[in-house]
Amino acid sequence: MNAGVRKWIRVLGIMSGTSMDGVDYALCAIREGEVRLLDLWHAEFPAGLRRRLHAAARSELRTYPLAQLHHDLGRFYARHARGGGRKTRPHWIGVHGQTVYHQPDGRHPATWQMGEPAYLAEALRAPVVSNFRVADLAAGGQGAPLATLFHRVVFAAPGQHRAVNNLGGISNVTSMDWRKGREPRVLAFDTGPANVLIDMAARHYSRGRMDMDRDGAWASRGRAAEWLLERWLRHPYFRRPPPKSTGRELFGEPFWTRAHAEAQAARLGAADLLATLTALTARSIALNYRWHLRQIPDEVILTGGGAENPVLREEIRRALAIFRPDVRVRTGTQMGWPSSSIEPAAFALLAWRRMMGLPGNLPATTGARRAVLLGQVSECSGRA
Ligand SMILES: Nc1ncnc2c1ncn2[C@@H]1O[C@H](COP(=O)(O)OP(=O)(O)O)[C@@H](O)[C@H]1O
Ligand SMILES: [Mg+2]
Repeated sequence: MNAGVRKWIRVLGIMSGTSMDGVDYALCAIREGEVRLLDLWHAEFPAGLRRRLHAAARSELRTYPLAQLHHDLGRFYARHARGGGRKTRPHWIGVHGQTVYHQPDGRHPATWQMGEPAYLAEALRAPVVSNFRVADLAAGGQGAPLATLFHRVVFAAPGQHRAVNNLGGISNVTSMDWRKGREPRVLAFDTGPANVLIDMAARHYSRGRMDMDRDGAWASRGRAAEWLLERWLRHPYFRRPPPKSTGRELFGEPFWTRAHAEAQAARLGAADLLATLTALTARSIALNYRWHLRQIPDEVILTGGGAENPVLREEIRRALAIFRPDVRVRTGTQMGWPSSSIEPAAFALLAWRRMMGLPGNLPATTGARRAVLLGQVSECSGRA
């Protein structure tokens, strides 16, 4: 193996997820089997850019505005990559890009992450790895989830069954079941919605003034409608066995439009609908574990923006406790990895692996035929 893997290397990971709230940057130091977080910052999308990204994800943009958006987003990533003018520059960069389409199944499998990486390479004069998902798709996989290896390096604990559940727009779990032997059994897949529907409801009922149900304040004033939950939990995606991944195509606008109409027909108020959608996220996570994991894990570590929502956290704990009363639920933050650091750090690790010539996917979790190099490299000439 490459001797360079023992040397610490600074890698900047950049992630903007399905919530479309903004961009998370994590500067990491990485060497074989170890990742340390050096610095973390966030750049919120300006309203105009966010609106255009939502429009792209709804397939409402034509070719020219789409091309402009791809480059504007690339420039936005680059503009904020210096994180307040710090001196520690990254050697390498990994940028996930903004998913505007992800449908790995069916007759026209495709996934598309926007944001031209050439601007980052030019601004930081360092190699940029991007477009991580396509090689896995080409190898017959879902192109997701890809944070799995990072979860394993940072959170797997010998002898324990731990799960890391990221609560972004979509919810994804990495289950690391370490019973006996030298390796944990790893399973990873998207469970369905995390915040995407909650955000849409908050936006709708606040007439666009709020982008989220901050701290679950709204949901805490309502009561979940059990009969609606029962109906929504029958969505076939939840039962479908992994490998599986999903996005706004299933649980964004189409689901929200239907759910909202059903809630209105039943005269459900805003608070009750928010409570019902929060419970939907929690219960669908618990049901996915029940159906697709060997058992409910000993410990579940919540990460991503949804881990900041105490009502959602408590709902998840309650939903899991129905199946396993002694389940422990913690947050990434409690373990030294702030909720917004994990996804960008995961792509820093994937960039490191690409530059080291190491594969980045776990075929058993994505469904790919084989382990492959993930990401394409934008080189630049001359270090600034
Ligand atoms: N204090 C909070 N209270 C409730 N929800 C929150 C809070 N902070 C973040 N969130 C939720 O987390 C989402 C962003 O999470 P993030 O992990 O960045 O997702 P993504 O990777 O999809 O961008 C927001 O859209 C919001 O729904
Ligand atoms: Mg985000």
